[in-house]
Amino acid sequence: MGSLLARRRVASRLRLFYRSDALDPKRPRPMSRVVVIDHPLVQHKLALLRMKQTPTAEFRRLVREIALLLGYEITRDLPLAPVPIETPLEAMEARMLAGKKLCVVSILRAGNGLLEGMLELLPSARVGHIGLRRDPATLAPVEYYFKVPPDIAERPVIVVDPMLATANSAVWAISRLKGEGARAIKFACLLAAPEGLKRMSEAHPDVPIYTAAVDRGLDEHGYIRPGLGDAGDRLFGTR
Ligand code: PRP
Ligand code: URA
Repeated sequence: MGSLLARRRVASRLRLFYRSDALDPKRPRPMSRVVVIDHPLVQHKLALLRMKQTPTAEFRRLVREIALLLGYEITRDLPLAPVPIETPLEAMEARMLAGKKLCVVSILRAGNGLLEGMLELLPSARVGHIGLRRDPATLAPVEYYFKVPPDIAERPVIVVDPMLATANSAVWAISRLKGEGARAIKFACLLAAPEGLKRMSEAHPDVPIYTAAVDRGLDEHGYIRPGLGDAGDRLFGTR
């Protein structure tokens, strides 16, 4: 009887411990994995992209080229399976991509710049589009389009958007994709602000972030500084 009471007391203390531990604001939270692709080619092209005198056609070409290089790193862990083939000289077992084809999801508009490069690397990938624009006053995302493959839940997903500023757009897009059942999600951008990385870590710590650089921070209009300006306008020449 005594030992039963003692066990109950220990169990209740343990419950208290776990509960208070879960509420402890100092308790380390899971963090998103952030991969900064600091390859010299990426950094060189990014510098050209940032320059204010870079014209639209050049800007577009550079975004596509950086997407190819980011995509190379993002797809590093894709599964391979042995496939018997014949070279002109003999039979061998080669290795080829296995499993369901990837889905690349572009956050419109500017995501389409990165999408183009990703599709050069992954020509059979499926494609989803999420149309979002930032409300200039609140910086909240306003959704105007959503179309993804119906079997997205079974596919690895790469979400592309050049800018992770407040991360309101990325967090919204990833929540929508999770709502459709997507689970294996990665996020790729050109520039990230520390504020956006923090917000992504809080909202989607399971989603790794691949970026070419992490900049100083956001200005009062939610622009990344030093940044590259408005990615959509520079890609499409709309300003
Ligand atoms: C830009 C950019 C991102 C978003 C990032 O899109 O392409 O989608 O802002 O900002 P956030 O991290 O603070 O949400 P914008 O709303 O300017 O639309 P656009 O791509 O159509 O130009
Ligand atoms: N969107 C952009 O296009 N640029 C920024 O710096 C921030 C959000």
